[in-house]
Amino acid sequence: MKNIMVTGGAGFIGSNFIKYVLANFDYNIINFDKLTYAGNLENLSEIESDKRYRFVKGDICEKKEVEKTVEEYSIDAIVNFAAESHVDRSILGAKEFINTNVMGTHVLLEVLKEKGLEKYLQVSTDEVYGSLPEDKKEILFTEKTPITTNSPYSASKASADLLCNAFYHTFRLPILITRCSNNYGPYQFPEKLIPLMIAKALNGEKLPVYGDGKNVRDWLYVQDHCSAIIKVLQEGTHGEVYNIGGNNEWYNIDIVKLILDKLGKGEDMIQYVKDRPGHDRRYAIDSAKIMNELGWSPEYNFESGIEITVKWYIENMNWWKKVMSGEYLKYYERNYGEKVNQ
Ligand code: NAD
Ligand code: TYD
Repeated sequence: MKNIMVTGGAGFIGSNFIKYVLANFDYNIINFDKLTYAGNLENLSEIESDKRYRFVKGDICEKKEVEKTVEEYSIDAIVNFAAESHVDRSILGAKEFINTNVMGTHVLLEVLKEKGLEKYLQVSTDEVYGSLPEDKKEILFTEKTPITTNSPYSASKASADLLCNAFYHTFRLPILITRCSNNYGPYQFPEKLIPLMIAKALNGEKLPVYGDGKNVRDWLYVQDHCSAIIKVLQEGTHGEVYNIGGNNEWYNIDIVKLILDKLGKGEDMIQYVKDRPGHDRRYAIDSAKIMNELGWSPEYNFESGIEITVKWYIENMNWWKKVMSGEYLKYYERNYGEKVNQ
């Protein structure tokens, strides 16, 4: 395995992954990205002149574009990050989620089959397991937890996972699936909880907390997700699913208060707004399999990860101010307008 095609490499996790791999391994990386609202080549400016890196603008739904890139760069493996990734946007409209997350994955699997590539890794999510009971902290998502999807986003990701499973069983293709919990870190698009709250606080605007703020998420620093993905790509068993998580459950409201505290701002900036429809109550991952079988463990604890993250958003205001304009403002009004006015 020498030439890795990273689809969706201009997004949050994909760009962190490319930088992590180039810093620690000797692979050639071909970043294949459509550059949707979430794709930003500025995320990769530090490594754009690295000889082992190439960018190709392309859509995973377009088979010819994918085939051409696979041939031109003699691709050995695909790591698929390309997706529509935000639950709230999937509630406003599911079509692009079905297109990219399901149909796009299907195209990649067909190309994998036809070209006989060495490996394919599908970057999936713990959200395919649905929601856990809040009062039974001992229950965590394992790889055997049944798929139960509650949002159009999670349904589209689960559909892709099922296709991967089917292509593994039917055609014996070298397919791996990872399912990670919520990520945070530099370059996350400020529509997701942590960067949105940091940006709002820095802008002196209200911080919109859905419902009672008591939904629970299990947060992992993005670089730890990247190290887990490369571990699974190199050492994982084909046809297997690997959960990835930080053993780090937080109520949303406590995260928001922590961010305000770090920025020296008061809790009067919090605004409770109407809840997200179908809002999953609790996610929590059991990472025993990847830890025991592959020897992976996270390097960052939440204290260090959140410190780096808040500092990064303070020091990179231009990055997030630029992406929080234009189309973003229209999305923000559509998603929050009605919630805030309740
Ligand atoms: P993101 O929204 O920041 O980035 C997605 C990237 O995919 C963008 O660069 C975008 O331009 C690209 N893309 C979208 N449609 C495409 C298409 N049709 N063809 C080619 N490129 C396309 O997402 P992210 O947060 O970096 O998530 C990456 C992956 O990880 C997703 O598959 C997501 O489901 C999964 N995941 C995310 C999290 C999280 O907390 N963010 C947790 C677990 C799993
Ligand atoms: P998000 O970052 O969108 O990730 P996901 O829904 O995929 O877990 O949201 C994380 C949690 O934060 C989720 O419970 C919804 C909540 N949330 C808010 O309370 N307010 C917001 O403005 C956003 C974007 C999220």
